[in-house]
Amino acid sequence: MRHLMSPLDLSVEELQDLLNLAQAIEKDPERYAHICAGKKLATLFYEPSTRTRLSFEAAMLNLGGNILGFSSADSSSAAKGESVSDTIRVISCYADICAIRHPKEGAAIVASQKARIPVINAGDGGHQHPTQTLTDLLTIYSLKGRLGHLKIGLCGDLKFGRTVHSLIHALIRYPGISFVMISPEELKIPSNLKEDVLNERAIPYLETDRLEEVMPDLDILYMTRVQKERFFNEEDYLRMKDFYILDKKKMELAREDMLVMHPLPRVNEISVELDDDPRAVYFQQAQYGVFVREALILTLLADAGKITLPEKGGASC
Ligand code: CP
Repeated sequence: MRHLMSPLDLSVEELQDLLNLAQAIEKDPERYAHICAGKKLATLFYEPSTRTRLSFEAAMLNLGGNILGFSSADSSSAAKGESVSDTIRVISCYADICAIRHPKEGAAIVASQKARIPVINAGDGGHQHPTQTLTDLLTIYSLKGRLGHLKIGLCGDLKFGRTVHSLIHALIRYPGISFVMISPEELKIPSNLKEDVLNERAIPYLETDRLEEVMPDLDILYMTRVQKERFFNEEDYLRMKDFYILDKKKMELAREDMLVMHPLPRVNEISVELDDDPRAVYFQQAQYGVFVREALILTLLADAGKITLPEKGGASC
């Protein structure tokens, strides 16, 4: 049984196949509109979500399948003390595939070990958020035409932001990638990620707290929200939450073709005055999230022998 716990569960070749499938779905959605008829996706969300849960559900509905699930721990038997292991054993009787979000790091791995259906990690604590990474990669690939030879600025909460951690892991597999890490001292990228991943592979990176100084050099600026829910101390959160606010004045320093990405939700870190700037692609990014999740559901269900994918370029189903 194949699961998705981390973006690295997919080889570069498998990832390229997935991105190609997502682009094929975007071009010709009708061709894929009935493939999952009779199949069910369960969304098990122990933490709040708008995009990830609803884009998974939209993806399954677009494929002709059905959805079931819960959107908070309080509305499931977790509130009575049921373990993730027991829950997933039960869900395996009800659904063909599931996406799970949980505040504890490693919870999705525990679920995958007990499941009889493919399990997708939809975010586990501050650890990984692989389907956001797939969304980000599809956005970059579709709008820049490549995944290598890019200078990527990561700005905001680089300590707790799991989307940033997953994106770094995924992008270092491509040639010519370099990073500029822009954060306050307290929210710097974890040292193990620098030592074990970036230094180990000799990936060039710069750390700074000055966004303006590095703006002209970037191909992509990936903004992140300060993760209030992961702070132990409200005072620290309040001190750091508005450290970076991207506005029109700062965007004047950026290249004409620099993309501004954000996994969303946004709080204050990007001014709404930028939303009409053609370089601000965060809402397009959310749309790509549906296509790539459709491609992922199809890939995992086909791998489990539950559906048959149409031949590449072949007749419609
Ligand atoms: N990007 C993202 O994970 O958004 P949600 O928390 O709304 O799912």
